[in-house]
Amino acid sequence: MPADAPRHLLGIAGLQPHQIMRILDEAERWADARDARAEPLLAGLTQINAFFEPSTRTLLSFEIAGKRLGADVVNMHAAGSSVTKGETLIDTAVTLNAMRADVLVIRHGSSGAVGLIADKVGCPVLNAGDGSHEHPTQALLDALTIRRRKGALAGLRVAICGDLLHSRVARSNILLLTAMAAEVRVAAPATLLPAALKAMGVAAFTDMDEAIEGADVVMMLRVQRERMAGGLIPSPREYHAFWGLTRERLARAAPDALVMHPGPMNRGVEIASSVADDPERSAITEQVAMGVAVRMACLDLLTRDQRAGGAS
Ligand code: NCD
Repeated sequence: MPADAPRHLLGIAGLQPHQIMRILDEAERWADARDARAEPLLAGLTQINAFFEPSTRTLLSFEIAGKRLGADVVNMHAAGSSVTKGETLIDTAVTLNAMRADVLVIRHGSSGAVGLIADKVGCPVLNAGDGSHEHPTQALLDALTIRRRKGALAGLRVAICGDLLHSRVARSNILLLTAMAAEVRVAAPATLLPAALKAMGVAAFTDMDEAIEGADVVMMLRVQRERMAGGLIPSPREYHAFWGLTRERLARAAPDALVMHPGPMNRGVEIASSVADDPERSAITEQVAMGVAVRMACLDLLTRDQRAGGAS
C-alpha cells in the first residue's frame, strides 16, 4: 500500500486521481478472472458486511469478492440485528469492533453514519453506501466499466440523469468523473435537482433531451421512492414520458453511447426494457461483473498493511 493511501474508503472525496487510477488498475487484474481463489490474499482475515439497509448486488458482490480472496466473510443484516431493538450506532460500532473484524463493509441509511463508525473501530472500513452521501465502490466500478469500453475517462461526455436528489451513486460518480477530467452533465426534474450540485463543477439541465445530446455515456438513476415523502414526481407514466431513457431519446446521444444503471431498475419508469436489454448499448450486467473486481481490489488494498504486520 502506498504511504499516502487512506486507511478507510469512505468516499471518492479525498481520493487523488492517482489513487483512483491505482484502484482501477488493481481491479483490472481481477476483471477477467472467473475464479481468483488461486490467490487467497485475505486468508485468515475476517470480513464483516454490516448492512443496515436493503441490498442485493452490493452485498452479494462484497461477499463474493471477500470469498474469492479467501477471507472468512460474515454478513450482518439490520433486520436481524439489535438495531431494531434500539441500539445506538456507537454501541453497534463498539460491538463490531469487539468482534475483531479485520475489515468492515458497512451500508447505512444515514449520511455520515459509516464515517462515524469508522472513527470508533480499529480496522479498515469500506462504505457500501451511506444515505444520500457516497457510494464509492459503485463509482469505481462504473469508472472501470467505462474505461474498459471507451479506453479512457478524460474528455468523455457523461450524462447522469434522474433522481439526483437522493443519489449517493450520482454524488460519488460526479466526484470521480470530474477528478478524472470527464465532462459531466446532470439532468433531473427541478424537484430532484439539488442546488449543491452546481458547485460540483457539472452542467445542470432540467431537460433530459438537451443533457444527453452527444453524450458518450448515459447513466440512469433509479427513482428512489422509498426516500420520497411524496409529491416529488408525477405518476411513473408521466415520469417515463419526460425522463425515461427510450430508444428515441438515446438517438440524441453519440452513436456508440454506453447506457448504464446501478440497479435495481424500475423498468418502464427511468429506463425502457428495450434499452436496458440491448447488448450493443447497455453495460448494466458488465457493471455488476466489474463490481466484484473493484471490491476485490479495494479489500486487498485496504488490508495490505495488516497482512504485512500479521493479521490480528
Ligand atoms: C444503488 C444504491 O443502493 O445506492 N444501488 C446499488 O448499490 N447497486 C442505487 C439505488 O438504490 O438506486
